[in-house]
Amino acid sequence: AKRSSISKNLLTWYDAHRRVLPWRALPGEVPDPYRVWLSEVMLQQTTVAAVRPRFAAWVARWPDFASLAAADDADVMAAWAGLGYYARARNLVKAAKAVVADHDGAFPRTEAQLRTLPGLGAYTAAAVAAIAFGERAVVVDANVERVVARLFAIDTPLPAARPAIRVAADTITPDARAGDFAQAMMDLGSGLCTVRAPKCLLCPLREDCAAFAEGQPERLPRKAAK
Ligand code: ADE
Ligand code: SF4
Repeated sequence: AKRSSISKNLLTWYDAHRRVLPWRALPGEVPDPYRVWLSEVMLQQTTVAAVRPRFAAWVARWPDFASLAAADDADVMAAWAGLGYYARARNLVKAAKAVVADHDGAFPRTEAQLRTLPGLGAYTAAAVAAIAFGERAVVVDANVERVVARLFAIDTPLPAARPAIRVAADTITPDARAGDFAQAMMDLGSGLCTVRAPKCLLCPLREDCAAFAEGQPERLPRKAAK
């Protein structure tokens, strides 16, 4: 019951409360893999607020894989200025070139194929497979990690808790709407299930949340002493 009630309640909540973000398809729209990929790479180490204007400027200049593959390196590095972790920008161009040269201009759809592209690690490959292509993938970023640790009251400190969190995340990931599910978990983690003072009374998962039942959700996830 837990697996299905969590995804059902979360998706219903997402339909009413989803954030409108420039890289997200609106309900009924087909996601653009280029925009999904670009946004996930930008969001790896940069906040949503900082990414918003940079994303808009980037897609206005390089709207697709072909234009980015043909871009001048110096222009790309200038467009990335201030976002940090500059290897990400270099890898974007390398990956765009690989898509054009090796994949006939079509972005690979599966997690395994996506991982072969420069700059796509486990998180980004899973996020793109789910959000751009609807593939069932287990997408775990720091927000999702916190939500799952609380839902299942996982008491092991991070980072040792990661394998258990991944298994638990897998059990609640639905077969359908995997991309919406992933983004709903991110929205829940950043808006309601926050590090401090989670807003459990507004949370659609409260009935299935072990940490809420225990009465002290903000104590999770624990962190190993440094
Ligand atoms: N952080 C990383 N990916 C995101 C997404 N697709 N939506 C909101 N926040 C995110
Ligand atoms: Fe997080 Fe509270 Fe919702 Fe549990 S009930 S998932 S702790 S916001």
